[in-house]
This record gives sequence, C-alpha cells and structure tokens, in this order.
Amino acid sequence: MKSGINEFPSADGLWTGIRLATDANVEGAIVVAQGTIRWVGARSALPAEFTGLKPHDGGGALVTPGLIDCHTHLVYGGQRANEFAMRLAGATYEEVAKAGGGIVSSVRATREADEAALFAQAASRLEQLLADGVCAIEIKSGYGLSLEHERKQLRVARRLGEAYGVTVRTTFLGAHALPPEYAGRSGEYIDLVCDEMLPALAAEGLVDAVDVFCERIAFSLAETEQVFKAAQALGLPVKLHAEQLSDMGGAALAARYGALSCDHIEHLSAEGIEAMRSAGTVAVLLPGAYYTLRDTHLPPIDALRAAGVPMAVSTDHNPGTSPALSLLLMVNMACTLFRLTVPEALDGVTVHAARALGLQDTHGAIAPGMPANFVLWNVREAAELAYWFGQQPVRAVVRQGRIAIGGNA
Ligand code: NIG
Ligand code: FE
Repeated sequence: MKSGINEFPSADGLWTGIRLATDANVEGAIVVAQGTIRWVGARSALPAEFTGLKPHDGGGALVTPGLIDCHTHLVYGGQRANEFAMRLAGATYEEVAKAGGGIVSSVRATREADEAALFAQAASRLEQLLADGVCAIEIKSGYGLSLEHERKQLRVARRLGEAYGVTVRTTFLGAHALPPEYAGRSGEYIDLVCDEMLPALAAEGLVDAVDVFCERIAFSLAETEQVFKAAQALGLPVKLHAEQLSDMGGAALAARYGALSCDHIEHLSAEGIEAMRSAGTVAVLLPGAYYTLRDTHLPPIDALRAAGVPMAVSTDHNPGTSPALSLLLMVNMACTLFRLTVPEALDGVTVHAARALGLQDTHGAIAPGMPANFVLWNVREAAELAYWFGQQPVRAVVRQGRIAIGGNA
C-alpha cells in the first residue's frame, strides 16, 4: 500500500492511443491539467494548444469513467462462511438471522475488533475493488450498532479514503439491525439512533448520508420515517434498503424524503416505481446479493426502464449476502441475471452510481471540469467489460488525477 495518493505519478498531460467507450472506433484524447479533465474528444479535434503537453500513450486501450461502487458494507470484523453453508443446507437468510446469525454475528466480530484491525481487513478488500477500476465508493456503518462502534466503522471508512486517494462517501446505517442488548425494545433503540448516535456522528463529520434496513426482520416503516426525519433535521440525504425480501412500501416513503437511492428493490411495487420516478431517486440493483441468496424474485427491471428511473449497479459488499469484491462481476451479473443491456450496466457503475451518491457533478463521467477519474481497459469493445468474468482487464487507472495503477502509461 502507498501511504498516500500523492506518491502516485501525476496524470497531467495529453492522453492519446486511447478509444473512448462512447465512440470506440476513433482514436480519442484526454487532456488532464492539475488533476482535472481539461478537454476530451476525438484526437482529430484536439485543439493545437494541447499538442505539446506531456504525452501518455494508452496503447490502444478502451477508456471509461472510473467505476463507482455505490453500496457497500466494506468495514466489518470476521466473516460468515458458516452461514453460507447453512443456507446451502436449506436455511433461508431470515431463518439464519432469527437463529442469532446474520447481521448480529458480524456486529459481535466488529465490536471485538479495534480500529487498526478493522482498517487492515477493510483495506485488503478495498485494494481488490480498486484493482477492478473503482475510483469512488460508498461505505456504510451498521455493524457497530452503538455510538462507539459505529464511530469506529465510519472513522475507518474515512481513513481508507485518505490512505488510498479514493473518494469515499460514508453512510450511517445505525438502523441496520436491533443490537442484542435492545432485544424487544426496538423503539428505544431507534430513539438512540435518532437522538444521540446520528447527531453526534454527524457533528464529527463522519456522515454523508443516512440509510435504514426497512424490512420485517429489521425496522418498520414508522421507524424508518423517524430516522429520515432525524436525517432531514440535520440536512443529510437519505437512502434505503427497500423491498428486498417483501414489499414494505419503503421506496415510496424514501422518495417522499427525496432519497438519493432505494437499493435491492426485488419486491418494489408500481407505486414505489412511480414515487421514485417523480422524486428522481436512483434504483440501485444488487445482483451479488440476489445471487448469493439464490433469490428468484427479480427486481422490476422492465417497469423501471419504462418509467425512466435511473438504475445503478453495485457490489453490496457485505459478509452475509454478498461477499463480492469485483464490480465488473456485478456488471456481468446485472446483464445475465437482471437482463440489463451492456450500456445500462456500464451506466449503472458510472453515471447513475454517481447520482446515487449525490456525486453527479464530480464523478461518473469524463467531462471538462471534473476531477480526472478514468480507466484504461485491455479490451476491444465495451461489451467485453460485461462479457468476461473472473478476469481483470485493467491496464491503467487514473484516480483523482493520479496514475494509481499502470504508472508507466
Ligand atoms: O445489503 N439487507 C441488509 N443488509 C445487507 C446484509 C447484511 C448482512 O447480512 O450482514 C445487505 O444485503
Ligand atoms: Fe446492503
């Protein structure tokens, strides 16, 4: 690990020998100045003023915006391979949770780990995501479930961003599960989340957005709304784990609070879709969880597409339902399992993922004025990014204006 992004070579200069995924048949050019995109287009249209800049040769690579993983639970202690085995033997996710496994077992391991141990474990996972071309990532809390331990998770998330020079958006998910010490006292726990944990963590600058797991094995619609009100009072945007196992009406509620995104949404209703459309809420699709749980209830992709709701795709990396460390594999699964088109799936990990994090003005595109975040791929055409799985076709990654991978480009 480098101790800081500034140790990576600068990406400033003129990038040629590349093909932009938006127009892969012609040679493209990108001008980076002071870490920011200055110009992008066909090389034949490059203004003369840029021709003498420091050259970077892409060797014919295809270029996309840096990928964005907009829904992860990256920071936690331990792992839960035992539950994987239980589910293979026939137990459902809900049965495992009710038997004292599930989220609460990761809570135990997360509380036991100190900040250094959590950082080290999450760092090695982050390195794998970065190797796949990720340039921005959302990291949720939700395995601490007390002020002290949620703080520890969020601090690790912030430190990861600094150490790796990757944009990190932190999401407070204190309402992920009921901690064992509050068994039977859900209302009291939600009061604690709203009145103490969230205000304190927000005051420490640790919270960029607020999320809730709204589900019959987690929190009710009324409890979800209580958390949303607390977020709103602090001026923080909300998002929601909505309609994953059942239709709770969470998406419509979230849309009323102007949610950035509703995530999972396998059981999303027509009313939920309409509410999301009118609020401009992004639908975050999580094929890794769908796959791991061997779910068969598809999210309503055709209806989302028909309504024009932007669809993002993410790993949902977590130790229970999606131990996935490749966003490109999720692109493949979004196409094979959810029948997204290749352009939809690629927009899902770039432009729409940016919007799901409120980062649409700075991330998810290669556009003048945006920080330079882009990936050079060893592929001929964009469809290959969805087609291959289990390989890493990254040639180079420019992250926050630095050549973070492939520094000899
Ligand atoms: O996004 N749905 C709730 N939260 C996670 C699972 C967390 C866990 O099982 O540890 C998810 O799938
Ligand atoms: Fe999740």
